[in-house]
Amino acid sequence: MHKWFVYGEFDKASIAAADFLAQQIEACIKQKGICHIVLPGGSSPANCLHYLAKKNLPWNQVNWYLGDERCYPVGHAERNDVMLDKNLWSHISTPNVHRIPAELGAEQAAKVYREVIKPVEVFDVAFLGMGEDGHTASLFPDNDALQDTRSVVPVYEAPKAPDERVSLSISTIKKAKCRMVLTAGAGKAKILAHIREGDPLPINMIGDINWYVDEAAMSTGI
Ligand code: 6PG
Repeated sequence: MHKWFVYGEFDKASIAAADFLAQQIEACIKQKGICHIVLPGGSSPANCLHYLAKKNLPWNQVNWYLGDERCYPVGHAERNDVMLDKNLWSHISTPNVHRIPAELGAEQAAKVYREVIKPVEVFDVAFLGMGEDGHTASLFPDNDALQDTRSVVPVYEAPKAPDERVSLSISTIKKAKCRMVLTAGAGKAKILAHIREGDPLPINMIGDINWYVDEAAMSTGI
């Protein structure tokens, strides 16, 4: 079952999401001395990541991965790892970052990243975003990548630029111990109503989710 944590404004949802992620990291490190965290792309996570970066956590025991990456050259302003560097990794000591080499092209990058994540049996937290069409990571409705059972998949003809991407697969995200999504704004209200109805969207195929949302995103029934 999805769990919904609704806040009056986006900033409060971002703070709560950062607190939840920090709690998960602390518990995981207390239990096994290391943790493996998947981070989202897009624009929604920025403030949450700033709040997370301010916390006093054993960052050297955290391994960071990406849910997806856009096939742009290294350093391109639209890459997800550039957003993550800017909002989190540049603010914490010794970040153990496992970037997706999307500059190699979707197929080759997916092959490389499958080897990178192979030692990680199960991610501890998959922190993801969601698009207005119900996509998550780079898993878009009606895209062939949804049927690809490999752990990391190439994505072509993505409806959100760029059309070539790399993504963790549905099965990899579903295997994570816990999933969380931070999303906000009236623009996401319609798709969230469909998600609450259980519509067969990619975001509804990855397992139970801890949703951190603002009231504007929860404002519309179907
Ligand atoms: C990407 C992301 C994608 C993103 C959603 C939401 O590469 O764009 O991985 O899954 O999280 O599209 O994006 P916003 O947070 O910008 O709405």
